[in-house]
Amino acid sequence: MQFTVTVADAAQANGEVLVIPVFEDSLVQEKGLPAALRSADAALGGLLLSTAKREGFAGKSDQSWSFHTHGKLPANQVVLLGLGKHAGASHEALRLAAGRAAKIAGKSRSAKITFALPPGTSTEESAKAAVEGLVLGGYRFDRYRTTPREENPAPRLEEVQLLLAGDKRPTLSTKRAVELGQKIAEATNWARNLVNEPAAVVTPTRLADEARKIAEVGGLKISIGGRKQIEKLKMGMFLGVAQGSAEKPKLIHLSYVPKNARHAERAPIALVGKAITFDSGGLSLKTPDGMVDMKTDMAGSAAVLAAMKVIAELRPPFPVHAFMGACENMPSGTAYRPGDILISRLGKTVEVTNTDAEGRLVLGDVLTWANEHKPSAIIDLATLTGACVVALGNYIVGAFGNDHALTRSVLAAAGRAGEETWELPISELQKDALRSEVADMKNSGERWGAAINAAVFLREFVGATPWVHLDIAGPSSSSRECGYITKGATGVGVRTVVEFIRQRASTSR
Ligand code: BES
Ligand code: MN
Ligand code: ZN
Repeated sequence: MQFTVTVADAAQANGEVLVIPVFEDSLVQEKGLPAALRSADAALGGLLLSTAKREGFAGKSDQSWSFHTHGKLPANQVVLLGLGKHAGASHEALRLAAGRAAKIAGKSRSAKITFALPPGTSTEESAKAAVEGLVLGGYRFDRYRTTPREENPAPRLEEVQLLLAGDKRPTLSTKRAVELGQKIAEATNWARNLVNEPAAVVTPTRLADEARKIAEVGGLKISIGGRKQIEKLKMGMFLGVAQGSAEKPKLIHLSYVPKNARHAERAPIALVGKAITFDSGGLSLKTPDGMVDMKTDMAGSAAVLAAMKVIAELRPPFPVHAFMGACENMPSGTAYRPGDILISRLGKTVEVTNTDAEGRLVLGDVLTWANEHKPSAIIDLATLTGACVVALGNYIVGAFGNDHALTRSVLAAAGRAGEETWELPISELQKDALRSEVADMKNSGERWGAAINAAVFLREFVGATPWVHLDIAGPSSSSRECGYITKGATGVGVRTVVEFIRQRASTSR
């Protein structure tokens, strides 16, 4: 998709569709109407606004309304998108609207559209949000379909003209914002592909190959270890989970190091992603329904890898390291058993009470290893618990942390990126939940507070390093279409991580 930024008159816009996002209040009060809307309405003899109102379009946040111009404008179709109330509006409303625009353009098979940016907000941030929404909303995972989809077809969108509101000129920073938005969204779509591919395709080996490709393209360092290396590092928990599968486990370390020597010496940020390429539950086998979507259990690592693609281009003034322990969780004659006691890299012993609580075992060893690289902060992304989905639903990320400042900063980044995230406590009240009779701890406790218990477990392995754990079990995939969200993998986490790094880079020159 190609984007251009202009200040042309909307009525002259020559895309097949002219898209105009509208705030709810602006239509009611008829003031603060976007210039694009006034000009298109004038060219259509006032028919646009009067018909929109008659047909009930009020600019509400879920509304889209389409009008055929019958040759009265260069564009065949004008689409008004509701942004909801102006007061308290975030760029997320625009991102969602732009996602709907991409889907509408898909239905009308349009190759070129014009998108009018709403007035009154930061041009850079709104351009970035619109571009992200358009690229994300146009995503489809269709490579295994031999019959084309009738409903919800893949857009053929090639060109988008972004119209700046008012008489603002396209500046260099606007162009950069567009480029960044496009990169972030394309990386997110890349992550979606990786998650949507079946587990038979995205194996630990394939994940490692993808990491290697990212390193080659982005000039990053890469090291990939196999079972030998994992044994050498004494990652007994990782080995335990991996031992039931015929797929070879992979230990992936991808790192960006700045060219500038002073920057390169700074403490790195460590990103850790859960990379279970299929989670059957192991001998504590999942139900058939509980297993259908478990190819998505590597969504955390897909988000981390996608973020690294962007970070390689952002070139922040500090190193960023990504760590992943990739394997399958399978039942077999060689699988780890309930009752087994695993010795972690840190030395702590763990009684396995449920082989389906595998994510925390692999993450525990990988967090220990990440922590040995002396990071200033660790952020992990993991499809860790069904309990987090019970608590926060399918659209909200759960955040846990051991450092108030870091948690604030990750939550703020998530907010700006439009990925809703809510902090959950690692309460001391819950700390006995994983007490074991025979080992230092067990890997799973009672079902109540299970998302917290998982975080309590992980916390044991990060020492005093500031750390945030993002449980993305719910939002990593979606069962419905909504704004820029498409069915299946969402690529959640990429925008939060990139925004966090971007923020950190801007304050640490
Ligand atoms: N990968 C699952 C968590 C999950 C559930 C992700 C639903 C996405 C959607 C994880 O490994 C798991 O099985 N967790 C168990 C933990 C329990 C055994 C303590 C769970 O949440 O039931
Ligand atoms: Mn599991
Ligand atoms: Zn899992």
